[in-house]
Amino acid sequence: MCGIIGYIGNKEALPILLSGLERMEYRGYDSAGLAIVNNRSLLVEKSVGRIEVLKQKTKNKNLYGNLGIGHTRWATHGDPSTVNAHPQFDASKKIALVHNGIIENYQSIRKMLEKEGIQFESETDTEALAKLIGFLYRGDLESAVEDALSQVDGAYGIAVIHSDEPDKIVAARMGSPLIVAKGTDENFVASDPAATLEFTRDVAFLNDGEMVVVKHNEIKFKKQRKMITKEFETLAYSLEEIERGGFDHFMLKEIYMQPQTLEETMRGRLMLKEGDVKLGGLRDVMEQLVKMKRAIFLGCGTAWHAGLLGEHLFEDLAGIPAETEYASEFRYRNPVIEDGTVAIAISQSGETADTLAAIREAKRKNALTIGIVNVVGSTIARETHAGTYLRTGPEIGVASTKAFTSQVLVCAMLAVKLGRLRGKLSHEEAFDLVNAMNELPSKVSEILELRDQIKAIAQRFSQARNFLYLGRGYQFPVALEGALKLKEISYILAEGYPAAEMKHGPIALIDENMPVVFLAPRDPLRSKLISNIEQVRARKGIVISVCNPNDQDIRSISNEVIEIPQTLPQLAPILSVIPLQLLAYEIAVQLGLNVDRPRNLAKSVTVE
Ligand code: F6R
Repeated sequence: MCGIIGYIGNKEALPILLSGLERMEYRGYDSAGLAIVNNRSLLVEKSVGRIEVLKQKTKNKNLYGNLGIGHTRWATHGDPSTVNAHPQFDASKKIALVHNGIIENYQSIRKMLEKEGIQFESETDTEALAKLIGFLYRGDLESAVEDALSQVDGAYGIAVIHSDEPDKIVAARMGSPLIVAKGTDENFVASDPAATLEFTRDVAFLNDGEMVVVKHNEIKFKKQRKMITKEFETLAYSLEEIERGGFDHFMLKEIYMQPQTLEETMRGRLMLKEGDVKLGGLRDVMEQLVKMKRAIFLGCGTAWHAGLLGEHLFEDLAGIPAETEYASEFRYRNPVIEDGTVAIAISQSGETADTLAAIREAKRKNALTIGIVNVVGSTIARETHAGTYLRTGPEIGVASTKAFTSQVLVCAMLAVKLGRLRGKLSHEEAFDLVNAMNELPSKVSEILELRDQIKAIAQRFSQARNFLYLGRGYQFPVALEGALKLKEISYILAEGYPAAEMKHGPIALIDENMPVVFLAPRDPLRSKLISNIEQVRARKGIVISVCNPNDQDIRSISNEVIEIPQTLPQLAPILSVIPLQLLAYEIAVQLGLNVDRPRNLAKSVTVE
């Protein structure tokens, strides 16, 4: 995710900004930049890629000054490029702004300012805010920022400087973290205490709606234009602990981020009253999408599982014939692609070699290609005709967790959109779906409370040699995903199967040592699943069921139950996968394995 650092004091700002940016490298980013006030003008440097590149670019340049701001960007609007990197500037180029988050109404702000004759350079939402502050500036940065923020919707953590006001940084928060760190005759703002820890441990955390004006010897907090007081606290934890946000592993942190990441994926895209969805990145191809005759989802591993769910959702909600292919098989199969076929690549990294090759093959055969990708500006994002970003931020743990739930959510949003436009979904049905989507983050939070219970289950079964995961309908891909998570981080052989297929082979494996995880939320196939559970019990298998609360039928035939909140069956995979992620995690921890770096695996598979 993006990172912010700001410095004001009596030292040179440049090395402090660079070191702060380096400290935030673990968060993942694709470009970086900084601005320093020198003699009432702004000195600026930006680069694409690693902080080291920015560092090299600043060498032998006279970037002197005691006030500056810096930023690492993880693109959400516009490719990673120097023009899209932050800081962004107002029209006079005297105001520099760095921003984390998303300004949702940036297009209307941009249009309004363009009508006033203001020209834009970047594709970012951030530039609209920088230009708006400049437009409202009447000699006082503090009030210009307050006025501008009263006109924006969305999430932000910002730091702003003006070359004519070289004694201050103005910073504010709404939805994106921001801290102020207090030194002696110097102060800092940052999105992350990791950026400033080497200079001071005295930190105040801003809350949503709060603003701060930071001078070298004075810090003034405000809320709704009125002064407030805030306490500073002395941080006791280490840099590494901060990077993992207090979690033992990145994977755990990412599992716990899912309420926020799902929120980000939906931000500004759900029309709750209308029962509809807005997907800006697909606007230009929407007509073609509505008329599509067939969808082919392409992906690998976890992304392939998300594709299987996309297939169900497209058929169920939009009436579109759909199939899911392993990208690695599709690319070599000489697939038949008729007119009206849309190939949808799902990829967290956007760089997976097989998925990229598959999408190229589909393109070569004249299919419309769509990307459901996390990393903005990645190769798949660039090479597809259009797409939708996941907006989950960088995924560092090798086992994919938060990307999966957002991939499924994007598939569901797209299916609702197409279902509405194709007249397959009534307003009422779509209304129920988007409102159920909106409730997912809080339901995920409820499931995360079950960690201790899941840990206890993990303790009981971590010595098992094999696991079976069974589900039907929407829950079958979840069974595959649960099994994959366990395999990759615990090295226990786990199989995912459609529950009814069990009797055609895997049932031979079942004995009193075999834990079988059943995905059994209330849905139209639950009663069939109950028979499958009975078949396992009859062979003395250990039944671990993921079900909805107060389900006595399931409870009475299970050895363990993990209760998750109910939602519509089409969205239930986003909830039922969470306990499976936690179960895999806790088992791997029990076994003393390196959860974030499982053997033989790479985060981004750029080879065949
Ligand atoms: C599993 C996992 C992999 C990836 C697969 C595709 O936890 O991470 O199976 O899902 O390598 O990667 P992306 O989504 O980057 O194309």
